[in-house]
Amino acid sequence: MDAAALTRLVRLPQADSTSTVLRTAATAAPEEWPHLSAVVADHQTAGRGRTGRSWQTPAGAALTASVLLRPRVPAERLSWLPLLTGLAAVEALRELAPQQADRIGLKWPNDVVADAGTTDVEGWGRHLKLGGILAEVLPAPDPGDRSGRAGYPAVVVGIGINIRQQGAELPVPWATSLRAADLTPDTDPVALLTAVAARLGRHLARWEDASGDASRSGLREAVRAACVTLGHQVRVAGPAGIVTGGVAEDLDADGRLVVRDERGRRTAVVAGDVGHVRKA
Ligand code: BTN
Repeated sequence: MDAAALTRLVRLPQADSTSTVLRTAATAAPEEWPHLSAVVADHQTAGRGRTGRSWQTPAGAALTASVLLRPRVPAERLSWLPLLTGLAAVEALRELAPQQADRIGLKWPNDVVADAGTTDVEGWGRHLKLGGILAEVLPAPDPGDRSGRAGYPAVVVGIGINIRQQGAELPVPWATSLRAADLTPDTDPVALLTAVAARLGRHLARWEDASGDASRSGLREAVRAACVTLGHQVRVAGPAGIVTGGVAEDLDADGRLVVRDERGRRTAVVAGDVGHVRKA
C-alpha cells in the first residue's frame, strides 16, 4: 500500500456524503485540506451521483471517498479530471485482478465498468457499472493553500466503487460490484482508495508538467485505451435532452466524446448519459 499517496486522510464511520463533508470543510478551512487530501466513510446516508441522482451503498460494502485536488492546470482543462480519476480507478482495479484486467474499463464519461459477458440491460451492452466519479469545482479560487497551488480552483472528486454488494443490495439493474462480477470481493476500501490516489497523483503530476495538455502528457492515449465506449454504437442524452446517436469514434483534446452519425457528421459531446447500443 502506497501510504504517501494522500497528504491527509480522514476516515469517518458515517457521513451524509463524503463530497459534501469535504466541500464544506475545505471551504471553511482550505489550509487544512491540501492537494490530494481525502475523506472516506464506512457508510454514506445521502450519497450523491451525477445529475442529482442518489448513490446508495450498504454500510461497509463499498469504497465511498472524496479527494480534494488543486491541479496546477488552466481551468478550461479541468474537464479531464473525471476521466483521469476514472483511469486511475481502472488501473488500480486491474492491478488487484491482473488475470481479469481486460474485463475492467472506463465508460465515458465517468463510469468504471466490468465486462459481464452479456447483459439484458438496455444501454449497457456487455458492461455493468462497478463505480462512478463525481467531480465538483469549488466556487472560488482558494487562497489558503500554501503549497504553491494558491489561485488554482479546488475540485472535490468523489469516488464510489462497489465492493461486497450482492443481488438485492445493488440499487439498479446496471450496477455490479467486485463480488457480483467475480473480481476481488475481499478488497479493503481504504487500500483501494490509496491505490487509486497513488495512480491519480502520478497522472496529475504528468498532466501538470504538460500544462494540462492531455495529448502531450500521453494521458489522452491512456484514457482512450481504457475507454470501452470507443468503437460502440452509442446514444448520448445531453444536458438539454438532445440525443446524439452514432459511433463513438474518439476522445478529442478536451476529453469530449466524438460521435460520428450515419451521414458521417461528427459531433463532440461534452457530457451526458451514454447508452452503449452495440459494438459497431
Ligand atoms: C455517478 O456515477 O453518478 C457518480 C457517483 C459518485 C459517488 C461517490 S461515493 C463518494 C462520493 N460522495 C458522494 O456523495 N458521491 C461520491
